[in-house]
Amino acid sequence: MSKITAAITAVGAYVPEYVLTNQILETMVDTNDEWITSRTGIKERRILKEEGKGTSYMAIQAAKDLLRKSNTDPKDIEMVIMATATPDMPVAVTGVYVATEIGAVNAFSYDLVAACSSFLFGMSTAAKYIESGRYKKILLIGADKMSSIIDYTDRATCIIFGDGAGAVLFEPNTEGLGIQDEILRTDGVGRPHLKIDAGGSILPASAETVENKQHFVYQDGKTVFKFAVSNMADVSEKIMERNALTGEDVDWLVPHQANKRIIDATSNRMKLPEEKVMMNIHKYGNTTSATLPLCLNDYEKQLKKGDNLVFAAFGGGFTWGSIYLKWAYDSK
Ligand code: UT7
Repeated sequence: MSKITAAITAVGAYVPEYVLTNQILETMVDTNDEWITSRTGIKERRILKEEGKGTSYMAIQAAKDLLRKSNTDPKDIEMVIMATATPDMPVAVTGVYVATEIGAVNAFSYDLVAACSSFLFGMSTAAKYIESGRYKKILLIGADKMSSIIDYTDRATCIIFGDGAGAVLFEPNTEGLGIQDEILRTDGVGRPHLKIDAGGSILPASAETVENKQHFVYQDGKTVFKFAVSNMADVSEKIMERNALTGEDVDWLVPHQANKRIIDATSNRMKLPEEKVMMNIHKYGNTTSATLPLCLNDYEKQLKKGDNLVFAAFGGGFTWGSIYLKWAYDSK
């Protein structure tokens, strides 16, 4: 019997309608379009404005988009992995609700939390279940409502993040397509540099924590930037070396969309021309767990069966890594 690999066989996505432009941000904090564009590459981001709607709403829309496009019966899905840093609520698992809402009644589900690397780590997890031979259809969703944890008076963070969701379906492949290799890394040295201080088990919510704005994201941008540039480039270069891939062999870099300058540094180290780099940071900003599947969705029509894709991400924790995948289908 030929070896089972885990291939992506369908993609779906959802972004909210409301567009928060750099021009609107100029009216909210002391910033300007020129600074944001030159320092990050971001022009606008999507924000889920409707009250009462959380991450699950976007995840459900992205999953439904995938089911419709691929003509998949949700009853055939055996597992739903929900990659997110912004679950609907503590304890009640967001992915479980999403699975039920999309009709994946035969699936089990859980949330996977690894900050901006959640989706990348989720790809690895999904692949292991598929490669075991026990599971045939796994839905991996990356979704984040970053606007729910951002202080819109803090110019250091509010210009960066956006809301969105993307989903991919993993299925077994016996032609050697799908995930080929991975390098996943973590380092607790990152904890002080990108975090939310309150609302967890160390500092539960209180009137004081709300007063002190401790439920919003804090980021020491400069330090995170330095770690992100060197580590994302390192693992991407290493995975190419390990698989004897040159810049010529790689068809696409699928990078986490945190900052255009981090993406450029990574693609330069990989010796990839700009046209091989998936980029949508200008229209969505950093959507945390949704950046990678939103890239796949935007570029799906350009992808060909057998294309070599290198995924790379870096996030809070710190968490980072790279995955080498062979694309499994031509888009219709
Ligand atoms: O996805 C998870 C991982 N996260 C990341 O990878 C993010 C990594 N970090 C970054 O992308 C960048 O560090 C930022 C985009 C967050 C910031 O860019 P930077 O080039 O590192 O800027 P900086 O923080 O060093 O600030 C440079 C200057 C400062 O002014 P002075 O001290 O030089 O006078 C800031 O006060 O820019 C100022 N500044 C701003 N100016 C206009 C900071 N934020 C803004 C702003 N508008 N929004």
